[in-house]
Amino acid sequence: MIPFANVLVRFLLPGPSSASSMEQLKLDSFDDIPMNSAKVVRFGKEPVIVVHTETGQFKAFFARCTHLGCVVKYDAEGTSQFLCNCHGSTFDLTGKNLTGPAPRPLTPLRVTVEKTSLVLSRRNV
Ligand code: FES
Repeated sequence: MIPFANVLVRFLLPGPSSASSMEQLKLDSFDDIPMNSAKVVRFGKEPVIVVHTETGQFKAFFARCTHLGCVVKYDAEGTSQFLCNCHGSTFDLTGKNLTGPAPRPLTPLRVTVEKTSLVLSRRNV
């Protein structure tokens, strides 16, 4: 009876290594993100888009579109916005949803530059 209860508890309560418990990610280098470009990295199980803006700032957002969850891209060649190719939503560099069916902004992360590395962390908003 007790082994069954253990299995049931483990099934109902995810362990501490679940993606939602990840608080910080360190990228050892940002040489591969030149100005006006972006890169998608994994933050636990979630994709995060890190953009190096035309003015030299680094910004990061959870990359799943707030409509149905497709991963957004950065439009370096045109608008310098985030685009969702699934149904056409667009987001500005603050993450704000501008056009399309996306109902909410992208969720931002805090970005800290430490010498040659970037530290991404959840914001407690
Ligand atoms: S999933 Fe992005 S617009 Fe629909």
